[in-house]
Amino acid sequence: MEYSKILAALFINTLLVVAPLVVMATDPDPLQDFCVADLNGVPSVNGYPCQPSSSAGDEFLFSSRVTKGGDPTLNPNGSNVTELDVNEWPGLNTLGVSMNRVDFAPGGTNPPHIHPRATEVGLVTRGELLVGIIGSLDSGNRYYSKVVRAGETFVIPRGLMHFQFNVGKDEATMVVSFNSQNPGIIFAPLTMFGSSPPIPTPVLAKALRVDAEVVDLIKSKFTGGY
Ligand code: GLV
Ligand code: MN
Repeated sequence: MEYSKILAALFINTLLVVAPLVVMATDPDPLQDFCVADLNGVPSVNGYPCQPSSSAGDEFLFSSRVTKGGDPTLNPNGSNVTELDVNEWPGLNTLGVSMNRVDFAPGGTNPPHIHPRATEVGLVTRGELLVGIIGSLDSGNRYYSKVVRAGETFVIPRGLMHFQFNVGKDEATMVVSFNSQNPGIIFAPLTMFGSSPPIPTPVLAKALRVDAEVVDLIKSKFTGGY
């Protein structure tokens, strides 16, 4: 076979392998009405095993966990996240959705972070939050932002860096939903400066274009995690 034909065949083969993965970019569809997670079971590749339906009862469809938030002033970020993913609400297992409630003290922030497995849609329920989203290099690293007020909504495309910051005088609260039962979270400051074991200081000094002392100072702020 000619060289160009071999290349074309390789290209088509690669597409055939990759295309189904692109279609499966979010949580897989369930194959039953529900599959209440057996949190003590050994997780399989995609989620927890199901409890027998006879032992699940009715309550798995309901949760009152986000009726109350935590005290945002207890955290150095000035925010408190009440998670409601499959680990707190086993009824979400295989359903491809989850939620968070986040409470903010005045000046508090939910620091820049990424959800590797989900798009996020949020509703501010009290106060006013500056919501910032940074596009990928495709967008020229564009920073999109708006002050979002009670009753207003926002959306964060999967994998994009974003934050919320309370710009009001009073506490603020938002409730967000994800199109994954386990969206995951990668906090930018903690990832760079609080990993375990740490990223070597010369790597960060070079990447950030600062002296090693600056890196070590920032690292010292993240020894306790978040
Ligand atoms: C908000 O961005 C959240 O992930 O809870
Ligand atoms: Mn988020």
